[in-house]
Amino acid sequence: MTEPTSVPLVPKAELHVHLEAGAAPELVRRNAARYGVDVSRLFDEEGRYLWTDFSAFLVAYDLAASVFRTPEDFAELAEIYQQEAAAAGSIYTEFFVSPDFGERSGLGYRAYLDGIVEGLRRAEAATGIVGRVIPLVERHYGPERGVEAARIAVNNLVPEVVGFGMAGEERLHAPHEFAAAFEIAAEAGLPLTCHAGEWCSWEGVAATLDAIPVKRIGHGVRAIENGDLIRRIVEEGIHLEICPVSNVTLGVYPDYARHPLRALREAGVRHSLNTDDPPFFWTSVGHEYRMARDAFGLSEDDLAAVTRTAIEDAFCDEVTKARLFAKL
Ligand code: ADE
Ligand code: ZN
Repeated sequence: MTEPTSVPLVPKAELHVHLEAGAAPELVRRNAARYGVDVSRLFDEEGRYLWTDFSAFLVAYDLAASVFRTPEDFAELAEIYQQEAAAAGSIYTEFFVSPDFGERSGLGYRAYLDGIVEGLRRAEAATGIVGRVIPLVERHYGPERGVEAARIAVNNLVPEVVGFGMAGEERLHAPHEFAAAFEIAAEAGLPLTCHAGEWCSWEGVAATLDAIPVKRIGHGVRAIENGDLIRRIVEEGIHLEICPVSNVTLGVYPDYARHPLRALREAGVRHSLNTDDPPFFWTSVGHEYRMARDAFGLSEDDLAAVTRTAIEDAFCDEVTKARLFAKL
């Protein structure tokens, strides 16, 4: 067996991680025992998350999320994630949070959000890492629920809420069906991001750019299938939140050699490196930077430039960005 290589030392930042899918198996097992929830089917014999394909992953992720029930549970989830990211050299994280998970936890979105923000503030006080949140609509819950999620998001703005987005099953519902939800968020001044070009081809990315005034696309990697679209992305300065380990682990690409990170970089596409759902995909922010170096050949300077681009295209305010740039 080859020795694992070290994590690159450069400061890191990520713009795309789903909070509840950042929960380590031990934390989920501990909370499940506390609340009497059977989570045995979530894990393999070695205690790692178990799922077979993207649909099964979404079900597993819902079950893991169901064992977070109090504001303190969510504070702890956010705090632990940030502590570990900071230990790996990360200075900034934007988390996707979900009004739907907030409602389903029994807490309601505001108490859920307050818990998360408390955890982010504690982690920042302890380590300096900055955390912000992007509420999102789950596409597979449909456009009506999307409008509701957007309303809930804009009625509960705190300084840590910096954007609005959409994740979920890309093969269900066209982007234009969510135009009303995104309009509610845009009118409240929130910049937008939307998952696309992961499970659907380049056309999913083009349809998203046509229907929704997004600044960033979650994944977006399949844009590489169309040269005109890539030129549009570069010209419009659209940022792709690239999640290479997620893409290979979920089977969007069979291996790193066929992943388009290098081609997207060579085309001049703005991008960041992100974990998506880290323990589900056996990754972490440190591992993403390590894989970018080891599997894609990025130098330390390249990686530092990736972090700089992530901060430039982060949704936080300029004062926060200036604080982050000072750490680079
Ligand atoms: N929600 C959590 N992870 C996701 C992914 N990779 N794609 C779409 N929705 C998600
Ligand atoms: Zn995602």
